[in-house]
Parts: sequence; structure tokens; C-alpha cells
Amino acid sequence: MQMKKVLGIDIGGSGVKGAVVDVKSGKFLSDRIRVPTPKPYSLEGLLGAIDEIVKTLNWSGKIGCGFPGVVRAQTIETALNLGSPFFGVNLAEEIGKRCACEAWVINDADAAGIGEMQFGAGRKKDGTVLMLTVGTGIGAALFTNGHLVPNMEFGSIKMKDKKSGKMMIAEAICSDAARKKYDLKWEEWAERFNKYLNYVQYLLNPDLIILGGGVSSKPEKFFSHLNVKCDLVLAELENRAGIVGAAVEASRHGGAKSK
Ligand code: BGC
Repeated sequence: MQMKKVLGIDIGGSGVKGAVVDVKSGKFLSDRIRVPTPKPYSLEGLLGAIDEIVKTLNWSGKIGCGFPGVVRAQTIETALNLGSPFFGVNLAEEIGKRCACEAWVINDADAAGIGEMQFGAGRKKDGTVLMLTVGTGIGAALFTNGHLVPNMEFGSIKMKDKKSGKMMIAEAICSDAARKKYDLKWEEWAERFNKYLNYVQYLLNPDLIILGGGVSSKPEKFFSHLNVKCDLVLAELENRAGIVGAAVEASRHGGAKSK
């Protein structure tokens, strides 16, 4: 049976965000709490940030958590931005022990995609839908007729960096973090990102691409410069998608044991 309320958590490179979600409607039932991701990145620091959100919201129920890396059997396999302290860690178990709550962990872009497919721009969309989250990294969630193919790392496809001529992973040159790092004008960034979009479109032939993550809150800066051979829309849940999707996914699974 589905639980109605779940605490959704979205782990990012700069902040850990959480809110209590009504998983039937996708609505927030609490404030959205943001705690800066403790640096240098460590498991202890991350668990502390999650626990702070749990305590602030006085939460004792189930937790659904999106993590920025490949998650298999609740265990972290990669974390391009957060790094090695998390490799091989069963994060659901660790959250369960630390916060005395049942927890369920999935990839952060998969969580955002689930949120959009259920309550946002992907609602009732069949065919192939690709959700891209553009922020510190580039996350991807791929759906066929509403079914998720998990852990699709399409932010890691290689592209040529115009400046150095070197092949680099796309998120290193096209993410929002790359825009800031290389001090790109929005138009310059949009040109790069458009190449990436067209490359992904060429490889996957989706019917629809949903664009989310940090950049999706400033569409006036870049959206009119994008041009791709499939439907392209902005995420509707904005920065809520990852929290909502993580909560929805956790409500469908038995979580890891609490203490
Ligand atoms: C990670 C992905 C993640 C994306 C967005 C990338 O660096 O490899 O797993 O979804 O960042 O956070």
C-alpha cells in the first residue's frame, strides 16, 4: 500500500533540499528546507545535512532521496561531482541508521524525471521522453511509455571542446556550472548546449525532451536559442521535481531499516 506523505530529499553539489510531499498530488506539505552541502564532501557531512532537514521538519516517516550519481541496489556507484567518499556506500542504509527512518535512494535526475512524468510536463506522455537536468552536472532520465530506464548518464557523452580541441564529457562544457566557470554569456552557453541537445536527440530520437535543473528557472536567457528536432519543453515543477520524484519513488518501495 502506498504511504501518503514522504520526506523527499534532493542532494546537490551546493545544497541538500527537502520537503514533505503528498505523493498522491505531488504537493509540498511543508516548507522547502535547504542546507548547504558540507565541504569537503564526506558521508558524515552529507548525513548530517539530511538529519538537519529531518529534525527541522520533525520527521519520523519514510525518506526518498535523490543522489547525483549512479545508484544500484541502494548503493552509490559513481558521483562525478561529489567524489569518492560515497563509492560503495549503501546510502539508504546509512540514512536509515542516522535518521531512524526508512529510506530509499535513486539517481537525482531519475527522481526529477519521475516528478515531471507524474505531475509536470511529462504527464500522460507516451513514447520516448528524456528529462535533462542542467545544474552542477547534467543529469538524464529516460522513459519509454512512462517506464524509467534508470541511471542513464547522458551528461557523460563526449564532445569536442571548441577552445582546447579536446574531447570532454558534455557536462564539463555544457552544464550551468561550466557556464559560470568559463564566464560564458548566456547566448554562448546556449550555442554549446544546443549542440549537446542535438547530439542527444540524434542518438536517442526522443519524442519529447523536458529541460529542468537550475537553468530552467531562467528560460528567458536561453530558451529561444535552442532548436532541436523533437518537442522541447521546460520542466513544470522547477526546483521541486527532484524532491517530489524521490518521495514518490520511495512510496513505492520498502525502505532500508531504521535503527
Ligand atoms: C552525475 C549524474 C547526475 C547529474 C546531475 C552528474 O555528474 O553523473 O548521475 O544525475 O550529475 O546531478
